[in-house]
Amino acid sequence: MNVFIAGGTSGIGYSLALHYCAKGYHVGVCGRDLHKISGNKPSNLLAYQADVCEISSLTLAVQSFLNEQENLDLFINCTGSYAEDVAGNISYEEAAQMLKTNILGATNCFEVARTAMLHQKSGHIVVIASVSGILDYKNSSLYTKTKRAILQFSDAYHRALKPFGISVTTIAPGYVDTLKLRALNNNDLSKKPFLVPLDVATKKIVEAIDAKKKLVIFPLKMKWMMTFLSLLPAPILNLIMYKKAKWMKQE
Ligand SMILES: NC(=O)c1ccc[n+]([C@@H]2O[C@H](COP(=O)([O-])OP(=O)(O)OC[C@H]3O[C@@H](n4cnc5c(N)ncnc54)[C@H](OP(=O)(O)O)[C@@H]3O)[C@@H](O)[C@H]2O)c1
Repeated sequence: MNVFIAGGTSGIGYSLALHYCAKGYHVGVCGRDLHKISGNKPSNLLAYQADVCEISSLTLAVQSFLNEQENLDLFINCTGSYAEDVAGNISYEEAAQMLKTNILGATNCFEVARTAMLHQKSGHIVVIASVSGILDYKNSSLYTKTKRAILQFSDAYHRALKPFGISVTTIAPGYVDTLKLRALNNNDLSKKPFLVPLDVATKKIVEAIDAKKKLVIFPLKMKWMMTFLSLLPAPILNLIMYKKAKWMKQE
């Protein structure tokens, strides 16, 4: 089995890479900075320097991986740009990077993966969105809006690629305890509700992939909370989400 993980050099992506390596699969990962891969790299893990915002860069990485393997069975997009922009400001640079990685980069991942899989008439593309994109409300952050867009266009790819034997799974996790999330929160995740340890998140994602689910939201408590909130009238939902964002920002 050949698995390529964009954004597989740290966090959720690297954890998934280690899982598939342990199963004996051929695994390729890419990221912009390969120094992020810490410790001893498994021998069946191949790492490529690539930026998903540049389609030629991602194409080259996937082609180099496939020169050494035959088919592309599974492509997982774990890239993402996020900042603590709730109830605060984000810089132009942060906003531009977020839009590029989460929108253009995610589209490039779908395009490069489906191009590689089309002749096989099989394959599975997975994208990590976020539970924050499930709700539609006025005061949501730019990050939330980009993740909502990913949920929308992965739905379109799901329908478009089905006749070609290619499956699409979208994962919408709640808070996952990664170094990136810690770094953004001064190592204090006490205000992150229903925080999921990285190994638990990895297991949930692998189960969703194995079952070829269309959309998986976890943890369950977060999913229920989102379902409840989505039933509220828009002004009340806006107010609750605004107050929550302010509370999370308070030291
Ligand atoms: N952690 C959470 O609580 C949480 C919750 C919901 C959803 N998510 C989503 O899950 C995904 C992974 O999050 P994480 O916490 O594991 O973050 P992370 O550790 O920062 O992982 C992101 C990975 O993507 C790579 N990457 C970022 N931009 C890239 C680009 N333009 N081209 C190629 N690679 C790029 C990073 O490496 P380089 O920077 O070196 O390129 C890194 O390998 C993100 O999409 C995030 O939005 C996370």
